Amino acid sequence: MHSPAAAAEPAPASPAPAGRAPRPDDVVLTGDRPTGVLHLGHYAGSLATRVSLQGRCTQTLLIADLQALTDAGSRAEDGTARGAAHVAAHVEEVALDYLAAGIDPALTTIAVQSRLPALAELTVLYLNLVTVARLERNPTVKAEIELRGFARDIPAGFLCYPVSQAADITGFRATLVPVGDDQLPMIEQTNEIVRRVNRLAGVPVLPECRALLSATPRLPGVDGRKASKSLGNAIPLGASAEELRRLVRAMYTDASHLRASDPGNVEGNVVFAHLDAFDPEVAAVEELKARYRRGGLGDAPLKRRLEEVLEQVVAPMRARRAALAQDRAYVREVLRDGMARADAVTRGVLTRVRRAFALE
Ligand code: TRP
Repeated sequence: MHSPAAAAEPAPASPAPAGRAPRPDDVVLTGDRPTGVLHLGHYAGSLATRVSLQGRCTQTLLIADLQALTDAGSRAEDGTARGAAHVAAHVEEVALDYLAAGIDPALTTIAVQSRLPALAELTVLYLNLVTVARLERNPTVKAEIELRGFARDIPAGFLCYPVSQAADITGFRATLVPVGDDQLPMIEQTNEIVRRVNRLAGVPVLPECRALLSATPRLPGVDGRKASKSLGNAIPLGASAEELRRLVRAMYTDASHLRASDPGNVEGNVVFAHLDAFDPEVAAVEELKARYRRGGLGDAPLKRRLEEVLEQVVAPMRARRAALAQDRAYVREVLRDGMARADAVTRGVLTRVRRAFALE
């Protein structure tokens, strides 16, 4: 079995993540819903951080297919129905994206949520500690309910997915969760459940966790909206050179910046948001911003620079992804191996939580 990820060059890093520095005794856990391939927003927001944490802390990445199913029957932002088959088909795609980004399965456990029965059982136990009112108050859930126009017809599984996410996090006794800022309410709700379990148990069975936010928590999509797997407005990690060019050329800049000589806006400009996240030459970017604001810098040369910068980031990931996509047996072996490790850990935690509920 070869391990292409182990030989991976470290990709250009995003600015340092905010918050307390990770400690060697931190247990890191995070997850992604397999509703599409991962994109540069994921990379800047969390994947680069995960790559840098490897070897420094215990780390698990969870491909959250059960959580994706809570949304599978409903309509996505763009009206595309995401069925169960779509979710199942993207489990390996997300694994490929992890490996392409430089996640090394010898240092990071990659596991699939639905293959860990202990997480489902933890969810059932935790559901007794949470009210419907509290779930409806969760700001992330609230926003998603509004987006989808749910009322009493909300699938119960959807309303309760924060509880399942608490099971994901606590099932590994995680202390550090690298996520985007939209996930902060999930961390808060997880810690409420942790405190309730510990009170029930009378001893600290579970540790509280904290979010690890990147300095680029939210990279906009090419059209200035939220970058989304389903909207097609984000640059996939495995984008071809042509796809990358097309997406960079389609990026919104400043609608009032018509001629190169016009002064332009840097704030809210998608091109500058990407340069800030990925261009290692910070001083040069600041100079470009000054010129753009003053007038005298056209969108075309600016986008050419961004295309070069992003090509440097994407090219190694594209190459690794293409190579690994030819070796599905290797990817499946990584997932099998990850499941075995994660199954042992989560079963151990479940035993202790069951005891808190007076179960044998
Ligand atoms: N809710 C997360 C998202 O939509 C995915 C996720 C599932 C997750 N389980 C998790 C994130 C556990 C952090 C920890 O992106």
